[in-house]
Order: sequence, then C-alpha cells, then structure tokens
Amino acid sequence: METRIIRINEHNPEPELIMEGARYIKKGKLVAFPTETVYGLGANGLNEEAVRKIFAAKGRPQDNPLILHISKISEIKPLVKSIPKEAEILMEEFWPGPLTIIFERSSLVPDVITAGIDTVAIRMPNHPVALELIEASGVPIAAPSANTSGKPSPTLAEHVIKDLYGKIDMIIDGGATGVGLESTVLDLTGDVPMILRPGGITLEAIKYFIPNVEMDLSIISSSDKIIPKSPGQKYRHYAPNADMIVFTGNIENIVEAIRNKAKEYVDSGKSVGIMATDETKNRYDEGIVISIGSRRNKGTIAHNLFNALRQFDELGVDIILSEGVETGSIGTAIMNRLKKSSGGNIIEV
Ligand code: TXA
Ligand code: MG
Repeated sequence: METRIIRINEHNPEPELIMEGARYIKKGKLVAFPTETVYGLGANGLNEEAVRKIFAAKGRPQDNPLILHISKISEIKPLVKSIPKEAEILMEEFWPGPLTIIFERSSLVPDVITAGIDTVAIRMPNHPVALELIEASGVPIAAPSANTSGKPSPTLAEHVIKDLYGKIDMIIDGGATGVGLESTVLDLTGDVPMILRPGGITLEAIKYFIPNVEMDLSIISSSDKIIPKSPGQKYRHYAPNADMIVFTGNIENIVEAIRNKAKEYVDSGKSVGIMATDETKNRYDEGIVISIGSRRNKGTIAHNLFNALRQFDELGVDIILSEGVETGSIGTAIMNRLKKSSGGNIIEV
C-alpha cells in the first residue's frame, strides 16, 4: 500500500492539508495523526470496515476496544446512553485534554469499536491537528496509538513510519507530541469511578472534583494475580526488543544496583543500555546511557520515555537497565509504562 506522508504546521494546520486527511477518513482510509499524548491511527469510527483495518495494520487483538475521538462535547450525545454528572464536571474541566471517559454505549457505536462490550471510551484530544481533522471529517475518529501492537507508543512521526509505513494510507507529521504518554482512562460505568490506565490527567487532579475516584489495583501492583479491568492492560505493552529491568527505591541504591548489574552484563559480553535521569546520568561508566529527563520535572520523563525505549532498539542493546521514579502524580503513569515495558521485571532496592 502507498503511504502518503504530509508535514503539517502543528500550531496552525494548513486547511488544505486537514481537508486531505478528512477526505481520506471519509473514504474509509487509515490516517495517523498527532495528538497531545501520542500519535493515533485514525479511521471513521462509524465505519465498521474502516475500523477493522486498524486492527489489521497494528496486529491488534480483536478483544481490545478502541477510543472514539471527538472535537466538541455535543458530539458525545448520539454515542452514549447517558452522561453521568461526574462526566459533565470532568469534561468541562479537562476536555480537550488527555482524559478518556468510559460511558454506556448507544447502538450507533459499531461492535468492532467496543470489542462487543456495552461501554465505549471517548476523548477530546487537545491538539489543533487532531481537533481540526475530526471536525473536518464530520465523524468520531476511532484511534488507538499508531504503533505496531506491543511496541512503545509513537511520540514522533518517525516512530509511526517505522512501524506502519506501507500498511496505512496517510501519516500526518505534526512533530513531537506533548505529554508523551497516553491519556488517562476513567471508567464511570461502575459503582465507583475507576482509573483503568493512569496518564496525562493524574488521580490527584481528578480527585479534586470526584473525591471517591479510585485507581485499579493492577496498575501499580507488581503481582500478576490481580486481573486488570481494562482489556488493553492485560497485554505486554510498550515493549522494547531488549530485556529490561527496572530498579525502584532510594535513588542512591538504584544507581549502585544499576552500576553493579551493568558491570555484570558487560563482563559477560552483553551490550547494556542504561535509562538514567539528568541528575544521575554522569554516575554510570558502563553501557550506553540515555537520560530520559529530570527527576525534578517528571513531565520531561513522560515526554521522552517512549522515544528512549525506541532508541535502545535502534542501538540494538541486549538489556536495558532503567531507573524507576516515585509514584504519585504523573510518576504513577510513568511507573505503569515501565512495568509494562519490562514485563513486570521490577527490582526494589
Ligand atoms: O492518548 C491516548 O489515549 C491515545 C491517543 C491516540 O488518543 N490512544 C490510545 O489508544 O492510547 P489505545 O487503543 O492504544 O489504548 C486505549 C485503551 C486500551 O487500554 C483499551 O483497552 C482501553 O483504552 N479501552 C478502550 N475502550 C474501553 C472500554 N470500553 N472499557 C475499558 N477499557 C477500554
Ligand atoms: Mg496503545
């Protein structure tokens, strides 16, 4: 398949380029586009056949439902059974933004979007290209992250090209995404409002408005016995080719443990990647060191994390030794992604 790549101005998208993207969406084609979190792989969310192509291009399991993206709050009405009061408050406060809300779905939503379950995930992305593309298409856009299933989510158009070139119709290149981790997924259909995936909007921020919100236990627990409630959370995800170990605890202990482990691997002839931070990167003298950002500004770590994992893949290291960060605020989302990338290989030191 021929993949068209369009470079767009991410602050002031050229209207004729947006129209091109929308024309593709309306024709049932696949268009990757930037959002404020990660790149999405979009299709007309009301066109079952188009949505099926998303699963095929990504190699995504059929039982993992997709998020519908809208550009105005009013577009949500026909897609859901009802809008809970909590949702109204949160949409007002956080949309457009990195918060996905799960509603009871209406019959307009195709089964292929929801993997047959009776709820639907909806979000309004905070990115001019995404918002204008949805608006010009005139339909909700179904979009998972635009990576091959299991790989780290794309935060640059280059990542999308690497994974999906030749498998999709268009890639709209709008430069680097902002948050760098996917949206928070919040389920409002149960007895208690429940975060199923931590992301750009933190538990603390939601709690301010919805005090009884909780976090699904499986998100931070390292036990495999707790079954995640969000279908997508049960798969190994965000995974680099190399094996990966994450070290958590006191930062001095982390540095020491990584130094020792790195030496062990190097001595046995393995090539080692170290995922460090600005504050610690000079403390390692073995392996290839990449700093993913500053411990004092965890947003920078979220922004760079997936790109760093992909860089280690490019470098072809055998093992990645990663520093952990403290949970709480965006740290919880970072640790959730590190847990997934490493397949739960976390050592507390
Ligand atoms: O930031 C984001 O959310 C990005 C951008 C492109 O918008 N999208 C994204 O989509 O991360 P995806 O498909 O990679 O992740 C969607 C997550 C999956 O974990 C999926 O299982 C969950 O949302 N999800 C979708 N519909 C659901 C539903 N009805 N109930 C529970 N979880 C659902
Ligand atoms: Mg994804």
